[in-house]
Amino acid sequence: MKFFIDTANLDQIREANDLGVLDGVTTNPSLMAKEGIRGDENCKKHYVEICNIVDGDVSAEVIATDYEGIIKEGEELAALHPNIVVKVPCIADGIKAIKYFSKKGIRTNCTLVFSPGQALLAAKAGATYVSPFVGRLDDICSDGIELIEKIVDMYGYYGFNTQVLAASIRHTQHIIQCIEAGADVATCPLAAIKGLLKHPLTDSGLAAFLADHKKVNS
Ligand code: G3P
Repeated sequence: MKFFIDTANLDQIREANDLGVLDGVTTNPSLMAKEGIRGDENCKKHYVEICNIVDGDVSAEVIATDYEGIIKEGEELAALHPNIVVKVPCIADGIKAIKYFSKKGIRTNCTLVFSPGQALLAAKAGATYVSPFVGRLDDICSDGIELIEKIVDMYGYYGFNTQVLAASIRHTQHIIQCIEAGADVATCPLAAIKGLLKHPLTDSGLAAFLADHKKVNS
């Protein structure tokens, strides 16, 4: 299971990277806006800053929704750094653009995926990653983890190489469930990753070790 962090916040990316378990970063227009990053040039500089922090794939999303616009933006993004993965929404022009990028060796992440059918089209177009949004399905009483399971099974059955990048992760248990479902990657908030560390028996056990040590060494 690869861990990506789902943020454009450089401090959080550095903190996650310093843990030594970070494999990449995903961003999207909302996460970039949340950091107050405005304008194409500032966005491009920010993506390069992220690439200089993390030695792993960094998803940068296009804004255009038309084929020509996606191609233009995607080629510009891909040229920024070898680790840039062009993030493209799962729409008709997006799938068409993913096919184009795939033929040119530009790696892609097909995003805003909510069904096995969408995931099938992303894989057939040659997407490097597919991003099923687990949390947003759960938010409407659908089953996001079940979608991950279905996509993993489908890709395995047909031998697709597209990696399942579970997105819209809300909490630590989602990560565990994505592992059990066989996702290749989970892109998570920092808190969800750090939540994996927490266990009361670890804390109480360490406290007891230190107390016993102190008894005979003070
Ligand atoms: O990368 C997609 C992810 O950021 C969406 O998460 O929490 O907005 O559903 P969320």
